[in-house]
Order: sequence, then structure tokens, then C-alpha cells
Amino acid sequence: MKISVIGCGYLGSVHAASLASVGHDVVGIDVDTAKVNALSRGRSPIFEPDLPESLVTGIDARRLRFSTEMADAREAEVHFIAVGTPQSAGSSSADMSFVDRAFSDVLPQVTEGDLVVGKSTVPVGTAERFREAVEARGAHLVWNPEFLREGFAVKDTIEPDRLVYGVTDGDEYAVEKLNEVYATAIEAGSPVIVTDFATAELVKVSANAFLATKISFINAMAEIAEVTGADVTKLADAIGYDKRIGRKFLNAGVGFGGGCLPKDIRAFTARAEELGRGESVAFLKEVDAINLRRRERVVELVTEELGGSVFQKKVAVLGLAFKPNSDDVRDSPALDVAVRLNGLGANVVATDPQAMKNARQLHPQLVYGSTEEALADADAVVVVTEWPEYKDLDPATVHRVVRTPIVVDARNCLDADAWADAGWEYAGLGRQVKNGRRAN
Ligand code: UGA
Repeated sequence: MKISVIGCGYLGSVHAASLASVGHDVVGIDVDTAKVNALSRGRSPIFEPDLPESLVTGIDARRLRFSTEMADAREAEVHFIAVGTPQSAGSSSADMSFVDRAFSDVLPQVTEGDLVVGKSTVPVGTAERFREAVEARGAHLVWNPEFLREGFAVKDTIEPDRLVYGVTDGDEYAVEKLNEVYATAIEAGSPVIVTDFATAELVKVSANAFLATKISFINAMAEIAEVTGADVTKLADAIGYDKRIGRKFLNAGVGFGGGCLPKDIRAFTARAEELGRGESVAFLKEVDAINLRRRERVVELVTEELGGSVFQKKVAVLGLAFKPNSDDVRDSPALDVAVRLNGLGANVVATDPQAMKNARQLHPQLVYGSTEEALADADAVVVVTEWPEYKDLDPATVHRVVRTPIVVDARNCLDADAWADAGWEYAGLGRQVKNGRRAN
């Protein structure tokens, strides 16, 4: 099928490349010339496993191209809207200007029988706003939210765990056409849920709200564990064995970040308030507050471990991305911790396998370096993103290069006993400090 994807960011670039990889003829359209030029040469503007290979294969097979010209969407019969909905400046609601513009720019290219498919995460009620304008072109509107995780984006797009179509009641034509787009995934077993616009829009935000709540729940337990002598990691293992609860997304630590969870729960709260149902999701404000408190707690722990002040102490900050396998630093707890420690006068040297370039753009005042440079003569080491290379660090080897063997494990991703046995003072979140120095 001939497909256009409007917006070539995290979502759109992966969506375009993945649709080409299953045999469709795809044009990705974006207003950013530099991004379009890079993508056209098969270069991924983001760090995302499998995306570069997928781009090159699609371009070489002449099934994938990128353009800045909206007129190139003319030939397509299915148009995906995949632009961002970031948090608005000065409010917690979503900035809808990119979605509004994408719709108004693509509509003149839409012809009779086409599908216009919204993928962006939007406040409930958005699709209804565009229905008339799409139908006036003889086309069909579908809301088809995306559930991909960064770091697994290509896999999640090709093998989604579910497909949700929000359609106008009885629009079989739209359902069949979208089934054709996703034929490979459907044949491989992805379930399809056909519903109305409002449900489809809500499925997306409620899924992210649930995930955020699960993380903040365990982080709230970490706060209680810290004052009672309990261990939150053991607690998570124990409650996670209950299949109704499940162990996934129960990793206590510095909390959630990224371009989705934080802004989505805020936008959901704002939308619910507009609808007069603010109290229904008022708990999401608490979810947000718990999450942000964890960043403060990490800074507090480092300060405590350093005897009450970080001033002029060298702190190695390992990790800047909001999670491993990503170079994304949007609302990253790791970057936030680095900035806060630096603001308190610590000599921070921050490092990350992929995210240093993006971090430097946002915070040029920080000192960045290699892992070796960060660790050399450090007074404290803070692990804030659980990259495999940090999890695999040998505590005995690192002990030899630092000034003081203090490690703050803000992701509870290290083997606490192994670090303590190697002579470190180990402090995790929601667990007790293990003092290896005294033991040695
Ligand atoms: C999230 C959702 O998981 C996707 O399903 C959704 O499609 C996407 O948002 C989106 O709306 O586009 P993503 O932002 O890529 O995906 O990241 P997650 O894997 O959900 O992680 C979010 C944050 O939670 C990270 O900072 C991670 O470190 C943190 N986290 C995750 C925890 O602190 N503890 C956990 O147990 C799990």
C-alpha cells in the first residue's frame, strides 16, 4: 500500500521504516530539513536499536523515502499523523499545535477513499474535532494509538502486543483498510480492538497512567522502606510473584522520565479537569509528586554519604538517558540529578554511552567525560541509568581508581553484596546502606 507518515521523530521515523520493512511503499514527511536529509541517507537521528538497518533496507529497496514536501503525500492512500504532543510551556496540558498543523497541511492532499490515521498521543476528544474536515474530503478518520517503547521501538511496531482502532461507528471500510496495513502483525497474532474515538484515545493515556502509577507505587513503598529498615527490592520480588500484580514495572529507583509518561499524566490530569472530572485522576498528581521526590532523594543520599555536603566533591554520574538503550534525555531523572548535584557545587563528571550529545545541548554547563574520566579520583559514584556497562562494572577494579569507595545505586541495579564485599559503602533507594568499608 502507498502510505505517508507525517512527522519523523521518535514515533514517525520508526513507523515509516517498519511499514516499509513489511512491504509497503512509504514516504515520511517532516518540516525539519536536516532530519529529512539524514533519514534519506539512511541515518537515524535518534539512537534506536535496529532502526538504522531498517532505514537502509527500506531505502535500498526503494520502498522508503523522506521529504519536506507535503505534496508528496498526494499519492498515498493511508496518511499517518505521527507528530509530537509535548507539554505546553507554562501549563500541564498537551501542546496540540503540531497535530493541528499536520492535519491542516495534509488534508489538501487527501483524496476520496483515503484513510487519515492519528497515532499521536492526544487529549480525549481530539479525533472528534477533525472528523468533519476529514469526511469532507471523502476520507475516513481512524485513531490508532501507538504503544512502542523506546529502545524496542522497531520490534514493538512490527510485533505490537495489540492494535487499537478508534473508528466512526460501522466504518467497516476503515477497519479493513487498516487491517491491510497491519496484515503482517495480525497474521502473527496481534489482537485488534475496534472501538470509538474516545476509547481509543483514552486507551493510550490510561495505559501510560497505569504504568506511571505502578512505578510511583513501588517508589512510595521505597520511601516507607527507607524509614522502617525494609528492603523495597525484596518487597517487589515478593509481591510480584502474585500474577495479579506482576513483577514488571516494579523497579524502585530514581523514577520515570522520558518524552511520554511524565507529560502524558500531566496532560491527562489537565484534560480531566477541563471535562469536570479532575477528581477522577487527582491521584496522578501524587504519582507525579512521588516521582519527582525520588530525584531529590538521590541528591540527598549522595549528600548524606559525603558527610553532609557535596561542595567541591568529585561525583561520577553514570548515566544521562532516561533509560538504557536510548539517547533520549527528555525529562530524564538521570540528567536532573547531575544538574542538581552540579548546582550544589559538586564537581560532577557525567557520562553515558549514547546520551552525552543530547545532554550537552540542554546543559552545556556540565562536565562530560568517559566512564574512566568520571570514575578517576571520584569521591562518590552515582548510577542513575541502568546501562549494562554500568551494571557489569567490577567493584574491585573500580575501587582502585576512585578516591572514596561510595556508590549510590539510584536504579537498584547493582549487586549490593558484591559491592559491599569489595569494600564499598553501598546505598540503594528504598534499602539499607551496606557498609563494606567497616567490614574490611
Ligand atoms: C512508554 C510506554 O512504556 C510505552 O508503552 C508508550 O508507547 C510510550 O511510553 C509512549 O507513550 O510513547 P517509554 O517512554 O519508551 O515508553 O519508556 P518506559 O520503558 O515505559 O520507561 C519509562 C520510564 O520509567 C523510564 O525512565 C524508566 O527508567 C522508568 N521505569 C520503568 C522505572 O523507573 N521503573 C520500572 O520498573 C520501569
